[in-house]
Amino acid sequence: MKSRPRILMDCDPGIDDAFAIMCALRYCDLAAITTVNGNVSVDNTTRNARHLVHLAGAEVPVHRGAATPMEVLAITADEVHGISGLGDLHVPESPSPESDVPAIDAIIDFCREGGATIVATGPLTNIAQALAKDATLVDRIDRLFWMGGSTTVGNVTEKAEFNAWADPHAVAATFDSGVAITMFGLNLTYQVRMNSEHVAMLRQAATTTSAELADLLDYYSEHGVADDEGQPVHDTCALLGLTHPELFTVAESNIVAHVTDDDRRGMTEVQNHAEAGGQPSADVLVANTADAPAVIDLVINAAVDPLGGPSQ
Ligand code: RIB
Ligand code: CA
Repeated sequence: MKSRPRILMDCDPGIDDAFAIMCALRYCDLAAITTVNGNVSVDNTTRNARHLVHLAGAEVPVHRGAATPMEVLAITADEVHGISGLGDLHVPESPSPESDVPAIDAIIDFCREGGATIVATGPLTNIAQALAKDATLVDRIDRLFWMGGSTTVGNVTEKAEFNAWADPHAVAATFDSGVAITMFGLNLTYQVRMNSEHVAMLRQAATTTSAELADLLDYYSEHGVADDEGQPVHDTCALLGLTHPELFTVAESNIVAHVTDDDRRGMTEVQNHAEAGGQPSADVLVANTADAPAVIDLVINAAVDPLGGPSQ
């Protein structure tokens, strides 16, 4: 039986974040969720996180985070995730409470014992601000698993991925801090796509969570990447890259995060060691391949029964 790593999840639900939260509940000991402005406003990402925790029948504290990026103007991706952030679902006020501890303090508190694991599936604003507030954090985070960036194509500009583009200064600050990071960029996540067959499987399972996530996946399919290969469930890759590393390959890389306000904004450029001035590479790993069918099986199991316990 696989162990269930204790994690804090920082996210901007968001439809693929919703699938990742179900995976976190099933395959991790999810100690806390922190929310950030990203796909939609932090009001909505916070409400959505509380709703998803309640929908799964779980009890996880949800801590509100940054409403705006560190320096650039706030943007959203509601054209993909819906105005609410969860498709065209009417998201009720959830009985799951919102913690009165702000996200940054929750992150610092979670890391106080050292050896902490964080999975981030949105812009890195909260992470960067926590690292800035407590300089010892970098040594108390064992590894940050981040869905963001790309070593190839972008989805906001030709080269920039949304989470990186939304707050490029947070990406630069996080990578420059020296914290150990495994980056699951679009070069990886575009390999893991769910389609109408998976929607049908979720509907056939007909659990409370699978029925709602089937609706979300349907919406995502109508508003997401415009091709018939299915929709990439980006954020699940960062979570499952932690719990099921055997399904992914990773490689050491020097990543340069661009913050210039031009077409390089949000780029996460791989530089070889020499280009990086021979600096010892910070402990940055980039995920390159995924066993997509196996990853999707795990996503479906979690969407059907998020409290079902870790898979073999
Ligand atoms: O580029 C994909 C990322 O941006 C995902 O995290 C998605 O939820 C959006 O936040
Ligand atoms: Ca996200």
